[in-house]
Amino acid sequence: MYSNKFGRLILGLYSCKPSAVCGAVRSAAGRSGFSWTAVCKQRTLWLQRSACLKTQRQTLPSPISARSASQTTVDPDELRRFQSLASKWWDEQGEFAALHAMNDLRVPFIRDNLLSVHGAYHPGKPLAGLRILDVGCGGGLLTEPLGRLGANVLGIDPVEHSIGTAQLHSSYDPDLRDQVCYRACTLEELSAEEEGGEEEQGAGQFDAVVASEVVEHLADLETFAFCCSHVLKPGGSLFITTINKTNLSYVLGIVAAEQLLRIVPSGTHDWEKFISPVELERLLESYGFSVQSVQGMLYNPVSGAWSWTNSTAINYALHAVKLRNDPQPHQTEAGSSHPEEHAAASHS
Ligand SMILES: C[S@@+](CC[C@H](N)C(=O)[O-])C[C@H]1O[C@@H](n2cnc3c(N)ncnc32)[C@H](O)[C@@H]1O
Repeated sequence: MYSNKFGRLILGLYSCKPSAVCGAVRSAAGRSGFSWTAVCKQRTLWLQRSACLKTQRQTLPSPISARSASQTTVDPDELRRFQSLASKWWDEQGEFAALHAMNDLRVPFIRDNLLSVHGAYHPGKPLAGLRILDVGCGGGLLTEPLGRLGANVLGIDPVEHSIGTAQLHSSYDPDLRDQVCYRACTLEELSAEEEGGEEEQGAGQFDAVVASEVVEHLADLETFAFCCSHVLKPGGSLFITTINKTNLSYVLGIVAAEQLLRIVPSGTHDWEKFISPVELERLLESYGFSVQSVQGMLYNPVSGAWSWTNSTAINYALHAVKLRNDPQPHQTEAGSSHPEEHAAASHS
């Protein structure tokens, strides 16, 4: 799913002109009997449904008043998929190879942004004293390096088997004993516990929340944003890495990788769940966040390394800061000052 094979496809097609990409897909489609017209129709229907859902969302009452205990971020199909991969997290050449490699970018991104917000200097342990929540931690690929930087990290994931893998792996490193711990639960469960618990009611507990390559697997982003804001201290940081919702990510992630080349099992990615930086920024702002930076990321399949890029057309990383204590939804629906709005709009 996140192996070099997929990365090779991404980079190969990403470096082509859009017309060349379409031509290649069309000719592959022709060879396999795949109907390009059907794909275009399907995509048009998706876009129409998206526009319809967006209109409905804008006319809904505030998510706080509409929120109920039954709202969940969990998509059971996603959990089944990750359950089947839960013993493979630490195979650096396996399905999660690209996530291992992504640490070279995302760990410094989190560290440097946290240092710029918190400004404390602890030689050797730059994140000492900070409490971080790693949402959708999987096997702990990102949790562990953050713990080694001195942070106190709680990794959560609804897939119990993945949490078992994470606990076992971290137990091999005595330096991590007091730095990381794991729980099999969702963000909304954790958030609700704190609300009714003995700790300060409603007050955020974490200096940072990290959700890396997770939001594209969630059933409900509003609940996710609400709970992130709830568990964060005012001034706390939210870090997200995810996939943009563009023609390119549709062609590469859905049509080519799943339906034509069968590099990943059909149904692994749902293009409907991808989100553009502009949409994500709007959502987060409506829950009391201020987005500080959005940066494109690119995977090089030859070197197996990620690098920063000016384009957010496929993968990107985002850093936001919680401004207020209580989420105040939908205050910025009317407009966004996101500098990439026009560029991103032209991608999709
Ligand atoms: C692509 S993996 C990313 C794992 C880890 N963040 C990393 O980058 O190494 C997506 C993770 O999200 C988890 N996940 C899926 N649905 C979730 C939910 N509703 N809440 C929290 N995590 C979820 C999956 O179990 C899986 O571990």
